[in-house]
Amino acid sequence: MGSELDWVDVVDASEVWEGDLLDFDVDGEEVMIAHLEGGELKAYQGICPHQEIALADGDWDADTSVLLCKGHNWEFDLRTGQGLNPSGCSLFEYPVRVTDEKKIQVGVPRDGQRRYNRFPG
Ligand code: FES
Repeated sequence: MGSELDWVDVVDASEVWEGDLLDFDVDGEEVMIAHLEGGELKAYQGICPHQEIALADGDWDADTSVLLCKGHNWEFDLRTGQGLNPSGCSLFEYPVRVTDEKKIQVGVPRDGQRRYNRFPG
């Protein structure tokens, strides 16, 4: 089962360094890609669950993987996408992969749903 994905080319892997947090338009939706310490790539919704602020503009500490939203200082762990403060919210996570041609691709589900978790607060 599982929903089918459209794998969309986003950026050359050589342009996203370890410790980087970058914003991209992927098929019309804002997606941020985090290159975690140790090399793992993560892709999440690019807009804060609180209000319409771009998360990649926040303050990310790659050592702890904690992202502080510049809007109102909500905190997220980019290893998991979970909200730390407040807890109980989470970022939508996209599958991400690197092709043999060293392109980073993000998997956009073809489920017709909105991929933007909101959390009132
Ligand atoms: S918009 Fe991110 S914490 Fe308010």
